[in-house]
Amino acid sequence: MTAPDRTVDEVLRYGARVLADARCATGDARPLLADILEVDRGRLILLGRDEVSEENFKRFEEYLARRCAREPVAKIIGRRVFWGRYFEVSPEVLDPRPETEILIATALEEPAARLLDLGTGSGIIALTLLAEWSQARGVASDVSEAALAVAQTNAEKSGVEDRLDLVASDWWSGICGTFDLIVSNPPYIALGEMEALDPEVRDHDPHIALTDGADGLTAYREIAKGADAHLSSGGRLIVEIGPTQGDAVSKMFAEAGLKDIAIMQDFDERDRIVFGRKG
Ligand SMILES: C[S@@+](CC[C@H](N)C(=O)[O-])C[C@H]1O[C@@H](n2cnc3c(N)ncnc32)[C@H](O)[C@@H]1O
Repeated sequence: MTAPDRTVDEVLRYGARVLADARCATGDARPLLADILEVDRGRLILLGRDEVSEENFKRFEEYLARRCAREPVAKIIGRRVFWGRYFEVSPEVLDPRPETEILIATALEEPAARLLDLGTGSGIIALTLLAEWSQARGVASDVSEAALAVAQTNAEKSGVEDRLDLVASDWWSGICGTFDLIVSNPPYIALGEMEALDPEVRDHDPHIALTDGADGLTAYREIAKGADAHLSSGGRLIVEIGPTQGDAVSKMFAEAGLKDIAIMQDFDERDRIVFGRKG
């Protein structure tokens, strides 16, 4: 592409063609170019006739090559919007999913003063809830030190770090005390399902964030086992699940003595959340 053709509109059209040839969503050109130009993606439309510099065009081509190699947009630009706020993401953490907003909506139905997020990854769940509840305090844990470093950065950026303790822990091993809300989006993909995942997920999310290396239910067994000891009376346990896991996880919650067990669905009417309460 030559300099006279390198307006924002032309570069976007070029990006869309490159992405279409690689069978990627053409709309991905917009957030990639917006990141390079350091503007909100919604403002690109106002800059249509501005020229894109040689240097920025080269960076755009590099971004397009990464996207065509199936790296997700959030991992390329290093951030993702979740519940209306930006969070840093890196190769060390799961790229947060929109479905996890169902867990947030469910949690927000009742206030909580002290919460625990098991397997926090980038910290999106704990940090979103602490941002929504200005008086709440929380603990967020992960077995991955690299993920905890990303969660720490996000905590500092979101201004709630003084109300959050980040703890390295293999599920309950490092967790003390009781909580009136425990949330988790644990790894729930069975080992046998990994090969069939989209390359964006299989090749770019850490495997420890995706699978337990077994039947996909190991984390729920561990979480259910410790729930009674760590929930205060009337406290809630809310977990995200894979669409086929509702019955199995509900049964674990019942065996752990939880009441009011319910399964909630996502936008595509697939089972996505299991809820239980300590009586
Ligand atoms: C599906 S990711 C969820 C991350 C984040 N909560 C989110 O919703 O985007 C699961 C997280 O559980 C963590 N994890 C895996 N095994 C764990 C274990 N044994 N103990 C604690 N956390 C674990 C992973 O490192 C990963 O960050």
